[in-house]
Amino acid sequence: MGEKNRDKITEVLINKQKNESIARLVGGVAHDFNNIISIISGNAQLCLMMLEEPNQELKEHILSILKVSERASKLIKQLLTTSKKHDTEFKILNINKVIKNLLNLLKETMGENIQMTTALDKDIRYIMANQTNLEQVILNLAVNAKDAMPDGGKILIKTENIEISEKEEHKVPVIHTDKIKPGKYVKINFEDTGVGIPRENLYKIFEPYFTTKPKEIGTGLGLAVVLGVVEKHNGYINVESEVGKGTKFTIYLPAISEMENIEHEKAEYAEYEKLKGNGEIILYVEDEDELRKTVFKMLSSSGYRVISCKSFKEALKQLKKHRDEIQLLFSDIILTDGHGLKLAKEASKQYPDLKILLTSGYSDNTVRLNSIRASGYDYIPKPYSMVELLEKIKEKIS
Ligand SMILES: Nc1ncnc2c1ncn2[C@@H]1O[C@H](COP(=O)(O)OP(=O)(O)OP(=O)(O)O)[C@@H](O)[C@H]1O
Ligand SMILES: [Mg+2]
Repeated sequence: MGEKNRDKITEVLINKQKNESIARLVGGVAHDFNNIISIISGNAQLCLMMLEEPNQELKEHILSILKVSERASKLIKQLLTTSKKHDTEFKILNINKVIKNLLNLLKETMGENIQMTTALDKDIRYIMANQTNLEQVILNLAVNAKDAMPDGGKILIKTENIEISEKEEHKVPVIHTDKIKPGKYVKINFEDTGVGIPRENLYKIFEPYFTTKPKEIGTGLGLAVVLGVVEKHNGYINVESEVGKGTKFTIYLPAISEMENIEHEKAEYAEYEKLKGNGEIILYVEDEDELRKTVFKMLSSSGYRVISCKSFKEALKQLKKHRDEIQLLFSDIILTDGHGLKLAKEASKQYPDLKILLTSGYSDNTVRLNSIRASGYDYIPKPYSMVELLEKIKEKIS
């Protein structure tokens, strides 16, 4: 197993868990910090008042204490607001989307000898959830599955809608104190073909600090976090396992009601309708074939006319040909025969009314990003969703 890969995924996880613990820490101690800062700055103010007049040098030192105290208290306020947001942001979510967003990272980190498959119900209900938390759950389960399959194997992630009736209590997970409430749920299965879990450990695994892994690998907190998140969402988790065969985790998260579902879909649709174009012409430059096709489809099915091309040279040619018709140049930064920023400069020199939007992947270094920002051109980072792209375009050409 590539240690590097495990490192990468745990790094992401640690960051998420760290954020969570920072949020808790900040919430807990911010009050104390504020008190401490008040004492420091209060005393500094007193010193200032008691100071004999001509001692300018001392005065400056005290003023400097006051200045940093103010900075510190601002910082605390800022931390407090971000941590609050972090902890409580619940949104209507599609669990499939959350999983799909993580798939690239997962596939990359699982390594070649682990085969990942998904079976995502395309009509999956929406849930009310905290995205970061759900990502934590999936990533923790994935790291565990990987650890359980040192010689490779298979992972299956499956989602489906399920309705739990009163009769189905026998299937109910046992680790929760409450019985599962009848109702509509989204069910997530996470299955591996790993070493399995011995019967006597089956429910201990959710206890904080329970681990069978060497100290430098496992903290035993992964599944405790998973359980915590599931319960925070009023959901349930179950585990079934057979030693030598594999393990299956099943998570139930309450789906939002029929009414809310319809309302949400309506709202999403109305949102999208507002974002559609009115036959405006976009020159789209992207050298990656698949992406170009996809975005072309996205835009042309959303009310825009799109001229797509794959190179710097071609773009200049098209600009010349359709000089007064093109309203927006939407270009990738790295092109095989030139730089998107250069294309933008060239184009806006020749056609001052042309709107410009640039894009590029994460692999670009910050120096480059900074040069884009400095140039004043609008920028949308990859990957972007269709709605994000349409919003950005609307912002540019309406
Ligand atoms: N998919 C799995 N297959 C086999 N055993 C598992 C699986 N998932 C969890 N376990 C067992 O449950 C234990 C607890 O898991 P948990 O994720 O809480 O902690 P950990 O993986 O040991 O450490 P950490 O997650 O902090 O790196 C693991 O040590 C392992 O013995
Ligand atoms: Mg773990």
